[in-house]
Amino acid sequence: MNEERARAVVEGSDAPVVVLDSERRIVAANRAAASTLGGAEPGRRLGEEQTAARPELLVLFLESAPELPAYQELRAGFTAAVSHELRTPLARLLVLLESATLPGSDVDALMEQARQEVEQARELIDDVLFLGELETGREVVSLGRTAAQPVVEEVAASFEERANHAQISVEVRADGGVALPLRPRMLRVVVENLLANSIRYAGPGSTCVVEVSQSDEGPFIAVSDDGKGVAAVDLPRLFERFYRGDQARTSRGTGLGLAIVKHVVTSAGGEVDATSEPGHGLAVRVRFPRG
Ligand SMILES: Nc1ncnc2c1ncn2[C@@H]1O[C@H](COP(=O)(O)OP(=O)(O)O)[C@@H](O)[C@H]1O
Ligand SMILES: [Mg+2]
Repeated sequence: MNEERARAVVEGSDAPVVVLDSERRIVAANRAAASTLGGAEPGRRLGEEQTAARPELLVLFLESAPELPAYQELRAGFTAAVSHELRTPLARLLVLLESATLPGSDVDALMEQARQEVEQARELIDDVLFLGELETGREVVSLGRTAAQPVVEEVAASFEERANHAQISVEVRADGGVALPLRPRMLRVVVENLLANSIRYAGPGSTCVVEVSQSDEGPFIAVSDDGKGVAAVDLPRLFERFYRGDQARTSRGTGLGLAIVKHVVTSAGGEVDATSEPGHGLAVRVRFPRG
């Protein structure tokens, strides 16, 4: 059964029907199923307990999800990657602690660096846990629509100090009439990650514009800056987990921010892409279908 046929069959039925892929993620569900389940966004995982508790629900499985082998490979590599990423701050922490015991060392400075390493490890763990919650469907991404402007402005305000410190000026251009199919928390996660990236990577003197608007295709958020941008080779890989343009790891980051953004946006039925011209900044655009 292919996805399109599955959708047609499901939508034409009065009984609650849901189609899952082999990871038990929702591919399609009709209205009756959505009301039985209290929402049935594509991509959300339905555990066995959840379907077993609803005997009236007809559960169909897609024979093969085309992207599955790649996904499984990613999953297997994930644990290894997390462990590897955690070793870096821990190794640096050890060096710092050992240095602090040497006579004449600047203990205050070393402790401040140590604090940053702990912060880095904590950020990584938080991101990994959050991504895990998204994947198991424990975190609901979309639940009705949220007016975007107040959330975006609140996030921008909360980054004001960081932006000033990095010498980035942030401009919000938000159409007050735009609502997005994301829970406020998820909308915040998206905007925070994109804004934090511009502040972190654009470079002093840059401007970052956060735009919330409506096009013919639907509502969108675009976060663009006129900073350093990204090399053409990096661009297609930005949304991969752990991918960082800065291979030398001189800047802090987990490489998970854009992967989280992509997961949130696609779970809510949207799309995300990035465009960049080296030296002319990066623009990330998050689009949703018309609601
Ligand atoms: N606004 C930007 N300008 C330049 N490079 C960026 C920008 N946003 C993201 N990048 C690049 O994309 C990489 C991945 O971003 P992300 O997934 O948020 O991870 P992290 O910020 O933790 O490194 C960053 O490491 C950086 O190299
Ligand atoms: Mg980031």
